[in-house]
Amino acid sequence: MSNTLKYASMRSIGAYVPQKILNNSDFEKMVDTSDDWIVKRTGIRERHIAAEDEYTSDMAVHASRDAIARAGIEKEDIDLVICATVTPDYFNMPSTACIISDKLGIRSVQAFDISSACSGFVYGLSIAKAFIESGMKRNVLLIGAEKFSSIVDYSDRSTCILFGDGAGAAVISAVEDPEEGIVDIHASADGSYADFLITPSPGCVNPASTKALEEGLQYVKMKGNETFKLAVKTLTRDVKEILRKNKIEISDIDWFIPHQANYRIIKAVGDSLGMTTEQTVLTVHKYGNTSAASIPMAINDIYEEGRLGYGDMMLLDTFGGGLTWASAVLPFCGR
Ligand code: UT7
Repeated sequence: MSNTLKYASMRSIGAYVPQKILNNSDFEKMVDTSDDWIVKRTGIRERHIAAEDEYTSDMAVHASRDAIARAGIEKEDIDLVICATVTPDYFNMPSTACIISDKLGIRSVQAFDISSACSGFVYGLSIAKAFIESGMKRNVLLIGAEKFSSIVDYSDRSTCILFGDGAGAAVISAVEDPEEGIVDIHASADGSYADFLITPSPGCVNPASTKALEEGLQYVKMKGNETFKLAVKTLTRDVKEILRKNKIEISDIDWFIPHQANYRIIKAVGDSLGMTTEQTVLTVHKYGNTSAASIPMAINDIYEEGRLGYGDMMLLDTFGGGLTWASAVLPFCGR
């Protein structure tokens, strides 16, 4: 590519869902809950759980292979690998992106993880866009992958029913046609709400220790109701702002693809925007909340169902630990 302006474009999507399913009746045997409560309060009916020896990197590799093949490129064409995850193969090092690169046979290219919880994929999209539009990279493999079951306390009914495992991946490439480029991305954070969603250990505040394990500090803790209220308020405001700024009408959006945390959050934000049921992509009932993997898994669902076509305009929105939130408007430019 010469000196012409470059735009970052989503050229493909892929995803992987582990085989094992935990449905709501399984949870009725584990904690004091009911199918009725879970469905009414969250919309979740099932979530997929990775096998004991199936890691975040393994799920990411499956999703990435599909994304690379569907982009019509060779793995040698990838010059940056970004993995968004809060359930890495190893805490601290090496990054899961390095392990994924090795398993894919992609060597000597930049690879790193980002930690933005459920906002990770959209945060990663903003990083891919910046790398490509600055001319530094041409084909970014962007992954959102989580083995969330590895940090869930299956005796805590307030969190265990929510989360599932899975992976999604996309190839973001440099293009010359502005019509194919990502339109805009908003990514924000407010660390004053850090304790709303937190895994207290391991980390330098609570290094791994027998005491930390006995106290269950390795598990995700969530102030669910407070997070819920803030998510609805923040996302509604953020999505309205990105649409207004870019002069985009709701009717210009083919697919509203929100983070799949809770059906009630999706419905509240969608209703206040005036989104129709047909525009809104829902997977929360079958995958639960898969954190950074949730949005690419949802994009892949409509792609594999043959509903997502070249040029379709997507609106993404997400909210998660940090607290972080993000929204994006972009056309899907895969075939
Ligand atoms: O992805 C990152 C962002 N995450 C989110 O956005 C998640 C946001 N939060 C939520 O999705 C919801 O807050 C939850 C689904 C986690 C909880 O729903 P809620 O309507 O906010 O319920 P609540 O936390 O206010 O709890 C209501 C009641 C409580 O009982 P009392 O105090 O009223 O007697 C809970 O103990 O529901 C109880 N409860 C349950 N009951 C049956 C909490 N979890 C369960 C459960 N089964 N699994």
